[in-house]
Amino acid sequence: MRALSGSVLEVDFWDVGDAVSEAVRAGLHRLHFDVTDGAFVPRISFGDRIVRSIARRAGVPSDVHLMVERPELQAAHFGGVENLGTIYFHVEAARDPGAAIRAIRALGARVGVAISPGSEISAVERLLGGVDAVLVMLVEPGAGGQRMIPGMLGRIRALDGARRRMGLDLEIAADGGIRAENAREVLEAGADVLVVGSGIFGQGDIPGTVRGLLAELGSRGAPQI
Ligand code: DX5
Ligand code: ZN
Repeated sequence: MRALSGSVLEVDFWDVGDAVSEAVRAGLHRLHFDVTDGAFVPRISFGDRIVRSIARRAGVPSDVHLMVERPELQAAHFGGVENLGTIYFHVEAARDPGAAIRAIRALGARVGVAISPGSEISAVERLLGGVDAVLVMLVEPGAGGQRMIPGMLGRIRALDGARRRMGLDLEIAADGGIRAENAREVLEAGADVLVVGSGIFGQGDIPGTVRGLLAELGSRGAPQI
């Protein structure tokens, strides 16, 4: 099912509760938390305590995008997060992807595998049978507000083809540089979930932007818990 997910990476954290509430009232389906560690990517964003507080009150499912080294060890910190949806880990960061998958499943969360633009798509293709979702990065991981790398749309098409061929119930999410102007081409490539950060939380009219993106998805938006 198609969904719009809002990343709070670039939100003004003074206002985060109000900003999330506004977006959810306008129909945002999910939240997306970009957890970075200053090692897998240069900066540190926030950890599980911030996710826990916001997820408890958001009123929509919360996904966690781990951009951290050794996700197989870090995932456990997200145990007990309320309304937890999918935890994505980067295939590049896991020494043992199987252990990362098991650690996430042990929390009762859905498992997603993420892939950076510079990595070979084959790195995730071999894991597809064991995960619920794949997160295709359309920008370099680590920061919001970048432009989408157009060549990444081909990866979404390839994964869409692979899941059909293999008969998999696999969700494809796209992350980075998505705006109302390019949302349609990302969906047409085969993405189910659009992750939008600065396009929603980095500018003034949050409800208007959410509604514009929902229109591209062909959805009026209904909170799904
Ligand atoms: C990038 C993150 C994205 C990012 C999206 O490392 O994974 O989720 O916050 O932000 P925008 O939509 O601004 O590219
Ligand atoms: Zn993300």
